[in-house]
Amino acid sequence: MAKVLVVGAGGREHAIAYKFNQEGHEVYMAGINPAVEKFGICIDIKEDDIPSYALENSIDLVFVGPEVPLVNGLVDKLQEKGIRAFGPSKKAAQLEGSKVFSKMMMEKYNIPTAKHESFSDYEKVSEYLSQQKAPIVLKADGLAAGKGVIIAETLEEAQYELKEMMCNSKFATAGANVVIEEFLSGEEFSLMCFVSDRKVYPMEIAQDHKRAFDNDEGLNTGGMGAYCPLKKITQDDVNEGLEKVVQPMVDAMSSEGMPFYGILYAGLMKCADGVKTIEFNVRFGDPESEVLLLKLESSLYEISNNIIDGKDVQLKWNKDAFIGVVMAAKGYPEKSEKGAVINGLEKLTTPVFHMGTKQVDDNIVINGGRVLLVCASGENLQAAREKVYNEIGKIECDDLFFRKDIGHHSL
Ligand code: AMP
Ligand code: GLY
Repeated sequence: MAKVLVVGAGGREHAIAYKFNQEGHEVYMAGINPAVEKFGICIDIKEDDIPSYALENSIDLVFVGPEVPLVNGLVDKLQEKGIRAFGPSKKAAQLEGSKVFSKMMMEKYNIPTAKHESFSDYEKVSEYLSQQKAPIVLKADGLAAGKGVIIAETLEEAQYELKEMMCNSKFATAGANVVIEEFLSGEEFSLMCFVSDRKVYPMEIAQDHKRAFDNDEGLNTGGMGAYCPLKKITQDDVNEGLEKVVQPMVDAMSSEGMPFYGILYAGLMKCADGVKTIEFNVRFGDPESEVLLLKLESSLYEISNNIIDGKDVQLKWNKDAFIGVVMAAKGYPEKSEKGAVINGLEKLTTPVFHMGTKQVDDNIVINGGRVLLVCASGENLQAAREKVYNEIGKIECDDLFFRKDIGHHSL
């Protein structure tokens, strides 16, 4: 039994902690998650204090969940102190930390992606935008919790949003630089891979649902639900993503002196003219990873250590279909209500990951944003879906909403 410290306290980190706990490890969490507190030790700790905490508690492995500490260089700081840490270095994490950097790398290494231009000057981008066609996509350069992407249906909307980003600090400093790119249509999928420098171990693919409401309407969110397997994406599409996107990018990172270790998440679109990159993330997707971690039969502890050491990795997957549906606080993603008590959780018979909850006395309450991920599995997607919505029906809380069509692309 090892001591594992999970950094982060959302649904993804709950799932990582749950998996380590199931593998028999002693779980610590840098952050407070009320569900993890039932089986692990959660501490409220500043990012800078994590390395000394890990040393003092003889932690065997630190697994960093979210992008922010990765982009800040937490893995480098841990490794400098001789602590084993899973995740990319600060330099490698730029692939997610800066959309301008990631686009520059894709351009330099001929990795297929949407046509795009990067800007730092409002007047110039506004002028450029006026000559484009709608729909068009605007992306804040920096991190914006999955919300810094605007798909504008008209050029007027695009100009308005541009002003919000660059002049009115809608995404704070993340919007100081922007990328404008062509709108791609097609089938989106998440291809996450364990990566140890140039060696790539693909996970099963999953699909997230980015828009807030049914039929893919409403604003972009961090993701409203995920499932696996997918019907419209073939093994050939996955291979194309691996050959044209993931492998060239990890090779490029290595050649540029920033070898990648950890999880590389390629957000891909199967377009009429081939698979193209939407984005790179440098961590487990959320909510994709909750679903895939339930499906993963191999030991996450062993995989993580082998990735760090450059040893080969074997991935074994459960054959069932898995699904996770997000229950979000009313008003998400713009601003969300907090404080309402969530009842009925004890009646659920399938795994529920806590994304944004808080323990107040004997109650679990909404702490904003995405709140719960209710998961289920079945022999096929239809069965898993019926089960998950049946479980959701047991939760009583008027301040939560969820999409009723998770998995609809693959039925
Ligand atoms: P990103 O944060 O870059 O993944 O963007 C969030 C979501 O916006 C993606 O998952 C897509 O659903 C959508 N999106 C981003 N870029 C494009 C694009 N060029 N064309 C169409 N949809 C896009
Ligand atoms: N679910 C999308 C992401 O984790 O970025």
